Amino acid sequence: MSDVTSSGKLAIYPGTFDPITNGHVDVAARAAKLFARVIVCVAVNSAKTPLFSGEERVEMIRQAVKNIKNIEVDAFEGLLVDYALEKKADAIVRGLRAVSDFEYEFQMALTNRKLSAEVDTVFLMPHEKYTYLNSTIVREIAKYGGDVSQFVPPHVKTCLMAKLKKMQ
Ligand code: COA
Repeated sequence: MSDVTSSGKLAIYPGTFDPITNGHVDVAARAAKLFARVIVCVAVNSAKTPLFSGEERVEMIRQAVKNIKNIEVDAFEGLLVDYALEKKADAIVRGLRAVSDFEYEFQMALTNRKLSAEVDTVFLMPHEKYTYLNSTIVREIAKYGGDVSQFVPPHVKTCLMAKLKKMQ
């Protein structure tokens, strides 16, 4: 197969990442094989009320993807398309885990395209073993003392335990 990364294209992989899971890492790694550069970016003004601060989420992602050389980590506030334009990104990457994701992702991708015709969205499917996973489930399991080892990188598990202990 030819080296598609030689085209120099930049993708942005946005999300709340509260916290990053193995499913997110899987999508980021797939994107890194297709694009020359990938910026995983944390939405700090997400409509959600995150457990972790923006800085904490960025740091957990940095550690999770430290072995993938063409991935950078950043945070943004405001509209995703404005961030994508500022970075001169060629595409936004989003993970599609199941059909249930489709309607919302379709709406978001088309809205972003309406806001800026220059930015397209590319959907990547994580490995099947991660299709049921989301950050809320991981936080919930950790909160009730369950073992999240199979869902998140080891350092994320440590951060989760420390954060929840602090909140008790
Ligand atoms: N593995 C594990 N979990 C995954 C996953 C994967 N591969 N892909 C998605 N998820 C999870 C996420 O962790 C998240 O879980 P949560 O609800 O428990 O937090 C959920 O699936 C997806 O949530 P969603 O709301 O679809 O996306 P998000 O929170 O990750 O990111 C933004 C949404 C930040 C990209 C979007 O809100 C945004 O762009 N905000 C900026 C403002 C803006 O421009 N708004 C206009 C958009 S049209």
